[in-house]
This record gives sequence, structure tokens and C-alpha cells, in this order.
Amino acid sequence: MDRTTKDNNYTHISVMKNEVLEIARGAFENKVNPIMVDCTLGFAGHTLAALQEFNNLSVIGIDRDLEIKPFIEKKLETYSNRFTFQNDDFSQIEKYTKNADFILFDLGVSSMQIDNPERGFSYMADGALDMRMNRNANLDAKEIVNVYSFDQLRALFAENGEKSAAAVAKNIVEFREKNEITSTSQLVQITDQSVPRFGKTGHSAKRVFQALRIEVNDELTQLENALYSASKLLNPGGRLAVIDYHSLEAEIVKRVFRDLSADKTPKSVPKIENSDSSFKMLKALKPTDDEIKNNSRAKSAHIRVLERL
Ligand SMILES: C[S@@+](CC[C@H](N)C(=O)[O-])C[C@H]1O[C@@H](n2cnc3c(N)ncnc32)[C@H](O)[C@@H]1O
Repeated sequence: MDRTTKDNNYTHISVMKNEVLEIARGAFENKVNPIMVDCTLGFAGHTLAALQEFNNLSVIGIDRDLEIKPFIEKKLETYSNRFTFQNDDFSQIEKYTKNADFILFDLGVSSMQIDNPERGFSYMADGALDMRMNRNANLDAKEIVNVYSFDQLRALFAENGEKSAAAVAKNIVEFREKNEITSTSQLVQITDQSVPRFGKTGHSAKRVFQALRIEVNDELTQLENALYSASKLLNPGGRLAVIDYHSLEAEIVKRVFRDLSADKTPKSVPKIENSDSSFKMLKALKPTDDEIKNNSRAKSAHIRVLERL
């Protein structure tokens, strides 16, 4: 299967596309007109593949980034009778359907967002310190960096695994006493000077940018709320699949899935098969070596699946 889509001169590769289709196939067994909700529509790579693969499938695509609208309208033109777009936070999923057979989350930012320096997600290019997935949101990265206290900044970076969190926070506070911090390159200058490089792989700004992005977009709270809401919508046999990319996301997905699939029957009640929980977790999958070779974004990905019994 072709994993690369060229649209509007833009190259996009959807992570674990084949695995997503196989998981969906299992969820659509015996369903005449299945419903999928793509909670992170992005450049619609997964949605397009699903619409092509399953003839009677309808898809509701949700994304908080309105800028994708013209691209996906063009890309999914042929499928307009089976596809609707909702510009919202995925935690609002219950507004858009009463039930679903397959619900997909492909977390984080899209390459379309990262590759546009104006959006401020990338430490590889100079741009404004923005990082809002929804450009109408109030909080941006510039405000966090210039307003949060030393303690707040240190805690934020440390929670995201930055070992030099205190040094980065201290240098941010010193820098902003002289000049407001407005660009990604100013922040990279600060992380370069704060994070020792010895023996380390990766960029000095990697964890700091990730921490800011998560904070700006309230990603972890959104995710936890959305998973509980989505689980309530699954039809029997339906599946909820999440592609996560780092440990903070993975911890939430594992915790919520464990909670939902836990045996909640009191010990005194005799067990009847499948009656003690309405969900089971399937085995998590990782991308193939081949996919990782072709798409560095897939390197840290896992897909985790919860099935409604
Ligand atoms: C990794 S991309 C999805 C790529 C997509 N699966 C594809 O194949 O083209 C993630 C998308 O989810 C969106 N997103 C992230 N968090 C969201 C949230 N809380 N609510 C709605 N959309 C969100 C981002 O704006 C981004 O467009």
C-alpha cells in the first residue's frame, strides 16, 4: 500500500496505516454501515485509507486546527457523502455522535503543523513562539515563557523529563529580564546554553518544546477526558485505538484502558464469562522496522487498542 500522499505539494506519511486498517476491520465485522470517528483528523491520511478500504463506512473527522479544512475538503472531495468534519477539541466527541464502531486517536502534532515555521512547533526553524493547534486559543508558548514563574517553568520542564529543567528555567528568567522572548530561535539559544550535550542524542530543545506544546494545548487533560468519553460511545465489538508517541501519553492511555477493562465485580458475586467488564485490552503494537526506516516519526509510536465486548 502506498503510504505517502502528495497533496498541494505537501508530503505526508500516516503512522501505522496498515495496522490501523486491520484493527478497524476487526471492529467492523458484521456491521452493515459502520461508523468511524477520527479524533485527530490532521491531513486525513488514516481517514482516506479507511474510506477507500471500507465501502459502507461513514467517518466523522475531528480536529481543533481549522487550517486543515481547505486541504481535507479537497482531499476527501470524492467521499463527501460519507465524511463530515468537526472543528473542535476531541474531548467534545460526545457532541458529534451517539455511537461508533471504531474511534482513532493519532496523538500530537501533524507534520503539516511542524513543517510550518509560523506555527512555532519546530526547534529546527525560526518562527514565532506560538505552538497553538487551535489558533483561536488564548494561551500560546510566548505567554508561558514570558509569564510563568521560575518554579512553574522548572516543574513544567521536569515533568517532561528534562534533566536540566532548573538551568533552562533560570536562563529563561534571566533572558526575559532584558528582552521579551518571542521566537523559537531565542528559546533554542537558551536551551543550547542550558542543556549539556555530552553523550546525549537529540536536540537540546526537544523536551522543552514538547513540554511547552503539551501545556499550550492542554494535551494530557484533553486525552484523559476524551478516552473516557469515547469509550462510552463504542458499540459492542467496537474498538478504540490510540497511537501514542511518548511516555506521558502512553501512561495516560495505559491507565485509562486498565481502569476501563478492570474487573469491577465484587468478589462475593459469582463470575460469569464476559459479564465482569465491558472492555478488554488488545496487545499493543509497534511499527515495523521497515516503517521506522521510512518515517522517523514512527520510531517511538505504539498503537494501543481497547475493545468493547
Ligand atoms: C498526528 S496528527 C494526525 C495525522 C492524521 N492521523 C493523518 O493521518 O493525517 C494529529 C492531529 O490531531 C490534532 N489534535 C491534537 N490534539 C487534539 C485535540 N485535543 N482535539 C482535536 N484535535 C487535536 C492536531 O491538530 C493534528 O492535526
